[in-house]
Amino acid sequence: MITKEVIERATTHRRHLHMYPEVSGEEVETTRYIREALEAMGLECWDLKSKTGVVAELGNGEGPTLALRADIDALPIVEQTGLDYASKNEGAMHACGHDFHTASLLGAVQVLKAQEDKLQGKVRFIFQPAEESNRGARALISEGVLDGVDAIIGFHNKPELPVGTIGIKAGPLMAAVGQFSVELKGVGTHAAAPHNGNDPIVTACQIITNLQAIVSRHVSPLSPAVLSISHIEGGNTWNVIPERVFFEGTIRTFYKKDQDKIRGLMDHMVHQMAAIYGQEAHMEWIMTPPVVDNDEEVTAIVKDTTEQFATIVTPELTLGAEDFANYMEYIPGCFAFIGTGCPYEWHHPSFLVDDAALQYAISYFVENSQALLNQYQKG
Ligand code: NI
Repeated sequence: MITKEVIERATTHRRHLHMYPEVSGEEVETTRYIREALEAMGLECWDLKSKTGVVAELGNGEGPTLALRADIDALPIVEQTGLDYASKNEGAMHACGHDFHTASLLGAVQVLKAQEDKLQGKVRFIFQPAEESNRGARALISEGVLDGVDAIIGFHNKPELPVGTIGIKAGPLMAAVGQFSVELKGVGTHAAAPHNGNDPIVTACQIITNLQAIVSRHVSPLSPAVLSISHIEGGNTWNVIPERVFFEGTIRTFYKKDQDKIRGLMDHMVHQMAAIYGQEAHMEWIMTPPVVDNDEEVTAIVKDTTEQFATIVTPELTLGAEDFANYMEYIPGCFAFIGTGCPYEWHHPSFLVDDAALQYAISYFVENSQALLNQYQKG
């Protein structure tokens, strides 16, 4: 039962976590806080090599194991909400609502702990660090958090959905991310004598302009994709042509074939155009996370269960990333969007969540744990 006391306690957790945000990989006090809360409820936490993050489980027997995941990290943003529980850690803010995710999962632990005897299997709780840096899921997977797990569920708060609404859909939901950087090497010279050097700024400008034709001319207009160059550096004064130019950016796609095609064309274009101008290009890629791709079967069960306590909507695709996708590379899962009714988008300095949404988020974890364990029990 999700009592008033459960919600009040989760609200207290949420506000405490909001007041003391810690950025990716540095969630030391957050980790300590979660551990203490779990131990106070009688759970034993795993000994992890990772200095942040908490994993614990409850339940019984030889039955199936379901994993519930919440991310715990904050962002390097100066909070401008004016809340009485606003961040006390200068320069850090829970501007993506991971405090809400963490508090919801703590609430779910409390409810499931009270029903432990009746559970048809085990529930593993993954309080994951470093989601924003796309490192946390992979780090925990390498520590075995998915060992023996049949399925995983998670969610992200969704500010534009009203409280009481939950977005669920099978198939792709959030984009795969590719991060790239390019260094062009030409020959520096006096800006008054460009013929004595080999100007990488002109080459970079041509490459960047041409890269913009890849999505518009080579990817189906029915398949969403983004290619953005977001950072460029070259030179440091008005009368010197530099030797090097650096630029970097990201691609976002929903299908592997689009990702492979864009990456291949970019590699080709960058190297060939640099060669045309007699310059060298060095290009690096980091491909992670992949697509958040909701499993048909798990999602059908989650949808049937969730519509008993919330209004279901079909969420729009988002080109944002979510390293929950890394778990889905190994086991089936479902990732939902839970409405938190806020006028500001994720990562905005005035971002808020409405605590009235906690009961829906706790129910999402609790009700779907029972439904999925029952389903996997039947085989
Ligand atoms: Ni987030």
